[in-house]
Amino acid sequence: MLNFTFYTPTKVIFGKDVENRTGELVREYGASKVLLHYGGKSAERTGLLEHIRQSLKGAGVEYVELGGVVPNPHLDKVYEGIELCKKEQVDFVLAVGGGSVIDSSKAICYGMAEPDKDVWELFENKRKAEAFFPLAAVLTIAAAGSEMSNSCVITDEKTLLKRAYNDDIARPLFALMDPEITKTLPDYQTESGCADIMMHTMERYFNNGGSMELTDGIAEALLKTVMHNAQILHTDPDNYEARAEVMWASSLSHNGLTGCGTDGGDWVCHRMEHEVGGMFDVTHGAGLAAIWGSWARFVYRDCLSRFVKFAVNVMGIRPQERDEDTALAGIKALEDFFRSIGMPTNLRELGVEPTDGQIDAMAHSLVSAYGEPFGSAKKLTREDMAQIYRKAR
Ligand code: NZQ
Ligand code: ZN
Repeated sequence: MLNFTFYTPTKVIFGKDVENRTGELVREYGASKVLLHYGGKSAERTGLLEHIRQSLKGAGVEYVELGGVVPNPHLDKVYEGIELCKKEQVDFVLAVGGGSVIDSSKAICYGMAEPDKDVWELFENKRKAEAFFPLAAVLTIAAAGSEMSNSCVITDEKTLLKRAYNDDIARPLFALMDPEITKTLPDYQTESGCADIMMHTMERYFNNGGSMELTDGIAEALLKTVMHNAQILHTDPDNYEARAEVMWASSLSHNGLTGCGTDGGDWVCHRMEHEVGGMFDVTHGAGLAAIWGSWARFVYRDCLSRFVKFAVNVMGIRPQERDEDTALAGIKALEDFFRSIGMPTNLRELGVEPTDGQIDAMAHSLVSAYGEPFGSAKKLTREDMAQIYRKAR
């Protein structure tokens, strides 16, 4: 077990109709004028935005609106948000949406807190943030975990670079989570979300740097719970209990809980997926599912005890004579599970067919951003990652 810091200051308000408390809470946190930030049409179509507007009005809180955040959110929208907040003298940002809207909001908050600096420098690793702006979220999709995480992921649409910046100051003040709201999600988004939730715990689980029995137990329970409920939602999308289990898992999977006592995890699949997301604009969780099997087969021998534990404790594989066979059976079982919920297990099924040149460009971009080698389950070089992309085609 390694030393760790666990910091998760976000207040969670969870359950049916909690979004009606938005105005009251925003006011309690000192807001007088809010940026109401949201995505495409879903929040308007479902009536959620109107509820939020009424709740803000009821609490006597002014607001300005900025919609149009796209999945894999863009830097130009962040700049637009910062300009609008300055012009309107906004003092609080309220994200109504999923990871994309929350991350766009986080980037606006970085920009507002240090208005003389270019926010993209954070994502280029040129400096660290020194301040943040008040932020809260009304979550509409269980997936990214941004509502409690320290992470923010933005794409520069001009260069197609998708980059993360992580900092504890970016954890939202509070998050309102009503599982009912997620019932309007298309099945593909629900299940991509489940894949992403699982991956946030699996990235931490497959490591060579420390472990704790308690952390492993929490991680394994979380993974089994998400798998069970992802399958329920595939056929019964209106099941409230399943929606609630998955929504709570999305937050716990990425608030640091499932990494306590470890080296923080591997994160190669996430970084590799972000390159695919930047270049081909795919749905993040589905992209992870498409890459994971090829990554796992490439690295499992270097992290064998963890792959065996995963196979037995999570996937229910009977231990076989050779540990390698147990590990491989676990990898295959997870791929079978992904297929059973309509998730891709390779890039072709994801809908992209990168050329050799594009694969080399993604591997090059990874090494430029993160150095070489990186990873915890196995330290990977640029050529290793290019090979994994090729195997995933
Ligand atoms: O734009 P609208 O119309 O709202 O539609 C969205 C979008 O098309 C739709 N949607 C959301 N809630 C809905 C709904 N449709 C119907 N009913 C609802 N209740 O779902 C689509 C996907 O939304 P998005 O916010 O993109 O999903 P997600 O939460 O998966 O976020 C993905 C983004 O988060 C990043 C990903 O890379 C990606 O950019 N991540 C952020 C992390 C973080 N900040 O901690 C960690 C993750 O690993 C991830 O990288
Ligand atoms: Zn993710």
